[in-house]
Amino acid sequence: MQNLLENKIVLITGASSGIGRCIVNDFSRFQLKSLILVARNQSKLDETASSIKQDIEVLPVSCDVSNKEEVKRLGKEIHDRYGYIDILINNAGVGTFGRVETISIEEIERVSFTNYFGMIYFTKIFLNSMIERNTGHIINIASLAASFGIPGMAAYCGSKFAMLGFSESLSHELKRTGIKVSVISPIGVKTNFFNNEYFDHKYPMKYMLDPEKVSKAVLRSIISGSFHTHVPAIAGLSIPFKYCFPAITDLIIDRQFRKI
Ligand SMILES: NC(=O)c1ccc[n+]([C@@H]2O[C@H](COP(=O)([O-])OP(=O)(O)OC[C@H]3O[C@@H](n4cnc5c(N)ncnc54)[C@H](OP(=O)(O)O)[C@@H]3O)[C@@H](O)[C@H]2O)c1
Repeated sequence: MQNLLENKIVLITGASSGIGRCIVNDFSRFQLKSLILVARNQSKLDETASSIKQDIEVLPVSCDVSNKEEVKRLGKEIHDRYGYIDILINNAGVGTFGRVETISIEEIERVSFTNYFGMIYFTKIFLNSMIERNTGHIINIASLAASFGIPGMAAYCGSKFAMLGFSESLSHELKRTGIKVSVISPIGVKTNFFNNEYFDHKYPMKYMLDPEKVSKAVLRSIISGSFHTHVPAIAGLSIPFKYCFPAITDLIIDRQFRKI
């Protein structure tokens, strides 16, 4: 692992909380060249950066991933400073909850621009320098909701289905290069993701994962280079099940989310 990460420049979006913060902790244990932390809240980023005890360069930079111009500015700053990055982890994301007839277009746009277009803006900014160097790894944090349409979460599921489709196409395009694309799809994770007015405690944390499980899966994907990893791995079996038994799947989802 150390060989794979030694002297690498790693950029993590959504680095100030939850899964992103755990990824920062795990990556900071290796002799990286630089760790670039991105989120909107600068003080939370500074707090994350100051929690890193290892002697590596850490760059906490505030940027709204859903804002194309801000991402372009950040991309220029990083290219001017380093010329490239080695590993891009598109983790920043938001959720929303509500039936389609009740949520506003603006709310759907907020989720889509953060979760889907944010990932595209960052990928487009750094892909060319990866192609020029014929090396790099783009890791996108999706969700099991990238494979199942859950009632009350159309905006979120749509953004994650889109992320998965985009990543799959990109992965095929980059097949004969030194650049890898990986998608990590966890089930529910105990983070601040649900601490907002949209969820209103509708999702019980009891059966959810600790975020460390997801950051370990990110590290494993660097070693394996595999395209799609579910966390836990057994959750991946739900996808062939869905296609083999669509009526049963429909029944389960309907039962589970009937009250929504
Ligand atoms: N928690 C789950 O159950 C779960 C399950 C599957 C997948 N995921 C995915 O995992 C990823 C991380 O979520 P989490 O659970 O760790 O949630 P979290 O604790 O709420 O963290 C979200 C992170 O994204 C950042 N962020 C949100 N909007 C942003 C924007 N417009 N620009 C820049 N940064 C932004 C937040 O920082 P600022 O607010 O400071 O910007 C924060 O650092 C998301 O993509 C989520 O969809 C989560």
